Formats: sequence, C-alpha cells, structure tokens
Amino acid sequence: MISLRRVSEDDLKFINDIRNDPTTRSQLENIEIISLEETNKWFKEKSPVWFIISWGSNRVGYIRTSHDTGNSICIGCDIAPEQRGKGYAKAAYRCLIQLYKKDYSVIWLDVYRDNTIAYNLYKKLGFIEVGSAPRLVNNKEYVTMVYSRIDA
Ligand SMILES: CC(C)(COP(=O)(O)OP(=O)(O)OC[C@H]1O[C@@H](n2cnc3c(N)ncnc32)[C@H](O)[C@@H]1OP(=O)(O)O)[C@@H](O)C(=O)NCCC(=O)NCCS
Repeated sequence: MISLRRVSEDDLKFINDIRNDPTTRSQLENIEIISLEETNKWFKEKSPVWFIISWGSNRVGYIRTSHDTGNSICIGCDIAPEQRGKGYAKAAYRCLIQLYKKDYSVIWLDVYRDNTIAYNLYKKLGFIEVGSAPRLVNNKEYVTMVYSRIDA
C-alpha cells in the first residue's frame, strides 16, 4: 500500500540521488546537479513541505510542494528510476490531491510538453492546461496545468 509522510533529514540523500539522476534532472526547471551539502542547507533554511512516497516500508520517490499561498499550491513528483512504471506516482498524486483539494482552491504544476509520461499522467488525474502563450524553459515548452475539480 502506498503511503505519504513528511520528508525528514534522513531522507535527503535518497532525494538527492533521485533528483540528480539525469533522467530526473532533465525534466526539471533547474537541470544542474545539486550537492548533498546544498540540499541539507536548503532543507534547514526552507523547511520544505515535501513528502516521501513509500510502498510498504520501501521508499520509492517523493512529492515536492512549493509556492504555497494558502489558497494555491504547486506540486510535483519524482520516482526512483528503478521504481518507475509501477503505478506509484499515480497513487501518490491521488492521495495528495484528496488531501489538498479540501484546503486549496488551486492545485497546479509545471511540466515539459515532451515529458509525455508525466503530461499524460496529469491529464488522466484531471489536470488541464492553462496559459495563453507558450513558455520556453531550457529550450523546451513548459506547460502549466491546474487540477480541475469538474473532471474529478
Ligand atoms: C513521471 C514520473 C513521476 C511517473 O512516475 P511513475 O511512478 O513511473 O508513473 P506510474 O507508474 O504511476 O504511471 C503513470 C502512468 O504513466 C504510464 N507510464 C509509466 N511509465 C511509462 C513508460 N515508461 N512508458 C509509457 N507509459 C508509462 C503508466 O502506464 C500510467 O498510465 P496508466 O495509468 O494509464 O496505466 C516518473 O517517470 C519520473 O519520476 N520521471 C522523471 C522525473 C519527472 O519527469 N518528474 C515529473 C516532472 S513534472
């Protein structure tokens, strides 16, 4: 069974390894490698509300949250390369959306249009594209999507 819990200091190496994997980094806005020291500093300074995704007792990935205004929040998720394609991201997002849709009017995310696995997953979960002009990040089209309650 999938479960979510807040990230603790002990999880930072696990997160850093997934985050720095080229297959993950290439799908993020900041594609640079981040050292474990930087990650530790960021965690201490920002106290981010991130979640570890576990399958049973096994950590399989993490959920990122940012831009929390109290009314809107940005989410994202990265799964360990060897754990992909097993339904973990879909289950974790569903869990988080159930939790957040009570408290936030707007749940949103950014995704590269050519990240077809993630883009299609978000559509299946009920996210729709917003924004009028195409936005380029790292020379690729970066799309903002918002969770639509109507599709839920
Ligand atoms: C995108 C990502 C989070 C998806 O996580 P995941 O746990 O592998 O996804 P799931 O197993 O829950 O699969 C979700 C859907 O994608 C499909 N999918 C997963 N891997 C796939 C693959 N390699 N090829 C085609 N479809 C795939 C699944 O079939 C599923 O669709 P379904 O519900 O219709 O069956 C993961 O691939 C990842 O971490 N990628 C690198 C970082 C990244 O892109 N993060 C998101 C940035 S916005």
